[in-house]
Amino acid sequence: MHPSKEPDDTGTIESLLHEERLYPPPAGFVAQANISDPAVYARAEADPVAFWREMAGVVEWFKQPTETLQWKPPFAKWYADGVLNACYNCVDRHLAARGDKPALVWEGEPGDTLTLTYRELYREVNRVSKMLRDLGVGKGDRVAIYMPMIPEAVVAMLACARLGAPHTVVFGGFSPEALRDRIQDAQAKLVITADGGYRRGGVVPLKANTDAALDAPDLPVERVLVVKRVGERADVQMKEERDVWWHEALASVPEDAIVEPEQVEAEHPLYILYTSGTTGKPKGVLHTTGGYMVGTTLTSKWVFDLKEEDVYWCTADVGWVTGHSYLTYGPLSNGVTAFMYEGTPDYPDKDRFWQMVDRHGVTILYTAPTAIRTFMRWGAEYVERADLSSLRLLGTVGEPINPEAWIWYYKHVGKERCPVVDTWWQTETGAIMITPLPGIVPTKPGSATRPFPGIAARIVDEKGNPVPPGAAGGLLVIEQPWPSMLRTIWGDDQRYIEQYWGHFGEAHDTYFTGDGAHQDSDDYFWLMGRVDDVLNVAGHRLGTMELESALVSHPSVAEAAVVGVSHEVKGQGVVAFVTPRSGVAGSPALVEELRGHVAEKIGPIAKPDRIYFTSELPKTRSAKIMRRLLRDIAEGRVLGDTTTLADPGVMAEIKKQYEED
Ligand code: WTA
Repeated sequence: MHPSKEPDDTGTIESLLHEERLYPPPAGFVAQANISDPAVYARAEADPVAFWREMAGVVEWFKQPTETLQWKPPFAKWYADGVLNACYNCVDRHLAARGDKPALVWEGEPGDTLTLTYRELYREVNRVSKMLRDLGVGKGDRVAIYMPMIPEAVVAMLACARLGAPHTVVFGGFSPEALRDRIQDAQAKLVITADGGYRRGGVVPLKANTDAALDAPDLPVERVLVVKRVGERADVQMKEERDVWWHEALASVPEDAIVEPEQVEAEHPLYILYTSGTTGKPKGVLHTTGGYMVGTTLTSKWVFDLKEEDVYWCTADVGWVTGHSYLTYGPLSNGVTAFMYEGTPDYPDKDRFWQMVDRHGVTILYTAPTAIRTFMRWGAEYVERADLSSLRLLGTVGEPINPEAWIWYYKHVGKERCPVVDTWWQTETGAIMITPLPGIVPTKPGSATRPFPGIAARIVDEKGNPVPPGAAGGLLVIEQPWPSMLRTIWGDDQRYIEQYWGHFGEAHDTYFTGDGAHQDSDDYFWLMGRVDDVLNVAGHRLGTMELESALVSHPSVAEAAVVGVSHEVKGQGVVAFVTPRSGVAGSPALVEELRGHVAEKIGPIAKPDRIYFTSELPKTRSAKIMRRLLRDIAEGRVLGDTTTLADPGVMAEIKKQYEED
């Protein structure tokens, strides 16, 4: 059952989800847990700034910060006079204690493998930093990374961090147009890509996509660096003067080249990551160095209970924030062995994930509910083909997990031995915000449980008044700044203020997450999905406005409205209502064309599942599209109040078509 998340008139949300099962941390787990004293919660709550001051010690600083927080709402500076380098923390600092320990263990989809020890990673990162510097990249320059899930992607991120050059990773599944927009907005001067990447046996033509993205006037890109991944399987045209093969440029860098890590101030930008919001244009979320490294290092250590011997696997792509915080920066900063996989879970067969857990002795697995639901559908027999006894902790992220999927994960993957941590956070929060600490907090399937120490998560109504624990839900907000928070939207402070801090008056001191949630009588948090115009499709964020503008950019479309509907596997699916231009008739061929068009504009993940044509969209008298009614139709619910419609007749037409489908 999915929770209902339709806000009612008072701005509160009636939750339909009641889940009573309670899973205390296994005794054996508690005995060895990094954090097992619940007093940490009270201590952090009593003085959050003091707590975060103390936690600054989880990273290594060239110059220790003496300040903790400067807060001029909604602009925060954390550890402002501290000096550090993120790459140094992820690589150099481990050389002495664990130079020969694997840092990155990787499998390509075809089955090829690579292991880099911390010393090898150090060499590689230094050489790549030198190569980037020779290509003109310096402190402050932006670098776009558009790559498959290969070790070079992580190396590229770390090398940028070493130089103090903010990276902007663009998901390899995004279209050339989406890549171009991001390059343009970030003003990136270099793009790092690959000839292609393997996906379900096929090849994603990343270099050809990059060429298409760069085929436009006035782009800032000077050079394109290309990793050879698929060779013959991609048709690659190298553009003279602009394009360079990674392996060729690297060949001229000495094996022992050293590039000293740039000593940057805590607030120096580490990266920009674009994410969907409530307007058509993706937002460049800016993360800086000090607070982000403290947040991701600490949460990795406490939430995943990282130990020296762990083999930790986060399945997220580097193109999403999880691939930044919990594949790259957090785990490596802790000196753990991180496993990374290039392809899809069903290649060559549906047991691929489990065979890899077995082969590499993975101890901690962090994945998304949509993947778990897919595995459930495939059946437990694929899981049972492999020995999963190495696993000791399981995590999920990206969307609400339904209790059934939680239990399945716990039972079939964790064999009822491993705690499950359901972690709630966002691109904007940088690090995990609501989560169990696995040695302390008893879990309830479907609940992310309680805020991480030092995080002031609350539930309020539309006016910002507290909604007490109990049945009714409300809006999830964060009432105090935290170290890994976004600092602004790249180049758009105003949008940052309005989008995140402008909901509850002029004080600008309450962060609005865009999510609905409720707290039960044990104060546990239950996340109920987005309450704004953002969809979460298979754990990927998509803005309805973004989808609508993609549709409207097609010559046959006059107007479009997009809504999210419950989807058994993806969590949410995309349904579009389209008004064709006059003289154009809706047809199955047009449906296919529009789906292809959206894939071209944004990427295949954004393709609408269903498209309906209508001569008019339901609008209020002030011409606002009533998506609520469209959602009612798409979910097969009884129609809500239509009296505010300018033309109540339009709903009948849409409904009829829907029922014929
Ligand atoms: C949703 C991904 C429920 C939520 C790290 C949030 C979740 C959005 C959970 C952020 C969870 C993420 N339970 N919902 N454990 N984790 N979400 O920016 O709606 O890609 O606002 O960051 O995903 O998505 P984003």
